Amino acid sequence: MTTDTEKTEAVPAEGTALVELDDVSKYYGNIRALEGVSLVVHAGEISCVLGDNGAGKSTLIKIIAGLHQHDAGTLRIEGEETRLSSPREALDRGIATVYQDLAVVPLMPVWRNFFLGSEPSKGAGPFKRMDVDFMRRTTHAELLRMGIDLRDVDQPIGTLSGGERQCVAIARAVYFGAKVLVLDEPTAALGVKQSGVVLKYVAAARDAGLGVVLITHNPHHAYLVGNRFVLLKRGAMFGSHTREEITLDELTRQMAGGSELDDLRHELERTT
Ligand SMILES: Nc1ncnc2c1ncn2[C@@H]1O[C@H](COP(=O)(O)OP(=O)(O)OP(=O)(O)O)[C@@H](O)[C@H]1O
Ligand SMILES: [Mg+2]
Repeated sequence: MTTDTEKTEAVPAEGTALVELDDVSKYYGNIRALEGVSLVVHAGEISCVLGDNGAGKSTLIKIIAGLHQHDAGTLRIEGEETRLSSPREALDRGIATVYQDLAVVPLMPVWRNFFLGSEPSKGAGPFKRMDVDFMRRTTHAELLRMGIDLRDVDQPIGTLSGGERQCVAIARAVYFGAKVLVLDEPTAALGVKQSGVVLKYVAAARDAGLGVVLITHNPHHAYLVGNRFVLLKRGAMFGSHTREEITLDELTRQMAGGSELDDLRHELERTT
């Protein structure tokens, strides 16, 4: 029995710079969505991007994911200066992006979603058909490897919790050989417990040697797993720190806007 689907193996050595953004800017017409932003993603590390609504976080990952092109600055993938022309090209270069509104088909079984678009087949010519057995077994085994023991991979993916669905998407990217995993606010809609589960799988992807870009509003989530932190405000970078350079308290203070919060307090005191 043969299968058409192959998984790419080569995981780069830990510490290799997989993606580097240097002084990158992006304009939508004359709206400045990003200006002068730099970010590095190493193999076996998690780089977090933090910022308020409209700060430019999604724009940043769209450049890495090949959806948008940057207008200034440089993007390097494994050391080579690049301009990505499509999401397909990003994927071919090992960059897998999990968007917040996961592209899943809710009524289809978990295993179908796991292999969606990359179904292995067996047999040849007119006897060629999907290798359902292989897909069931592999989905179960790969999820188990990430610590998720699904009773039934035949259940529709829509019956899984939001956190579990994020985990399936992460396991899928790892299985199909991604080198870089980009996650846009994977914990935004989740409660404390589910967020913890997702962060565990994010850490598992890191431990498997991937470089991870984690977008979040939440400095606590970022600090639990992050090696690097880039802070964005209205398209500009107002902080970039390694874990050694910053404490959780300081990260939280910077995210909360420090002095801006004081101004807000004064304003609210006046109005009450
Ligand atoms: N396609 C677009 N056309 C015009 N302006 C856009 C477009 N996409 C984003 N913007 C603008 O660029 C800025 C940054 O948006 P972006 O979506 O990157 O922010 P974000 O940090 O992801 O915010 P959120 O936390 O709300 O998801 C915003 O001012 C937004 O209105
Ligand atoms: Mg966004």
